[in-house]
Amino acid sequence: MEQPATLDWWLERAAAEFGTPCYVYFMPQIRKRGRHLREAFAQQFTISFAVKSNPNGVLLDRLRDVVDYLDISSAGEFRRALAAGWLPERMSFTGPGKTQAELLEVISGALGELVIESTREAIEANRIAARLKRRQKVLIRLSPTSIPKGFGDQMGGRPSPFGIDVEDCDEAILAIGKLEWLDVTGFHIYAGTQGLKADAAVENYASFLDIFKTVCRRHGIVPDKLIFGSGLGVPYHPSDVAIELERVGTQTVALFETLRGERRFRETKLILETGRYLVAEAGYFLTRVVSTKLSRGTCFAVCDGGMNHNLPASGHFGMALHRNYRMHKVGGGGPVERVNLVGPLCTSIDRLGCDVDLPRLNVGDIVALHNSGAYGPTASPVNFISHEPPLEILVDETGMVDVSDGARAA
Ligand SMILES: Cc1ncc(COP(=O)(O)O)c(C=O)c1O
Repeated sequence: MEQPATLDWWLERAAAEFGTPCYVYFMPQIRKRGRHLREAFAQQFTISFAVKSNPNGVLLDRLRDVVDYLDISSAGEFRRALAAGWLPERMSFTGPGKTQAELLEVISGALGELVIESTREAIEANRIAARLKRRQKVLIRLSPTSIPKGFGDQMGGRPSPFGIDVEDCDEAILAIGKLEWLDVTGFHIYAGTQGLKADAAVENYASFLDIFKTVCRRHGIVPDKLIFGSGLGVPYHPSDVAIELERVGTQTVALFETLRGERRFRETKLILETGRYLVAEAGYFLTRVVSTKLSRGTCFAVCDGGMNHNLPASGHFGMALHRNYRMHKVGGGGPVERVNLVGPLCTSIDRLGCDVDLPRLNVGDIVALHNSGAYGPTASPVNFISHEPPLEILVDETGMVDVSDGARAA
């Protein structure tokens, strides 16, 4: 994603005005990405944002004019989204371990669609809906037998706690369809994430389409909604190449033509569910150098923000090997040197950068880690060693505002 021309000006100002460590989110970049996504798929997809990727309250509020729906994964996310002004009917609820209390809260709270992950969950939801005398729309989550190579994390294509295995789904769909208080209004698949290969993304969507067509025909379902887990990834590491979204879009839209030719799918809403692709590249994590040290020939810059504030950048969030995030020294300047960027924790796993080439770092300098707009503070062990949590700053057309939890939004 294109960086704003004045990126370092904003980052320097954010660090000076609010302090570090902090996350800085650029709302104009998120809006642009939202438009880009819609255009790439020729407006055929409406967009659902996965709250888990960034549940910041002010960001959720601003996203109301960027995306159409929210994908929530807990009652806590339901409450955050409501507090941010979202209508419950605009939300769908995924997650393999929904509790009775959560089901009660969302069904009585007029949730849009419950995404059913097992027959057991459906029976439980039906019992609660009956007790409340409220019909509940449900989408059945299916788990494909295979997914193409090229996704950083796989939720399908192997034994999985997510959704109903497609090879066993007929019996489950029949059973769920008979439950009196549930209305099956469509299907959902999220099989893999962090994909950077266009061909794999298209093949993935084509396989979802085949599954959706087969189950709808076989069970005589005219779906209101079909949710496609986007799987679209972002170039976290310097050697990563961004996915060619236009190519994914053109080839996927061509697949939709055959779907629209069939009457049962003519009015169906096709929804792209995405988190990181919308927000990751619009966010930067700023950490300030507190100390520098040369130890046995190796240069260390010890920073005020580390793994406790940005776990994914430390390589401990589902990465098999540590690979450095893209990063730069804010303001640049100085000869390039190889450095190890570490955080404030007393553990050797608190590393944000191994052997990174950066302009010389001195005490007080700020390093910006890119791709930090998704899976940031809430995906990090912020309580570990009781440092202050990171701040969250949002840059919008009107200026810059502290949107950290508990901060007063402009
Ligand atoms: C059901 C579901 N929806 C959405 C997402 C968001 O994924 P991403 O942020 O990679 O787009 C995930 C990620 O795990 C997921 O499991």
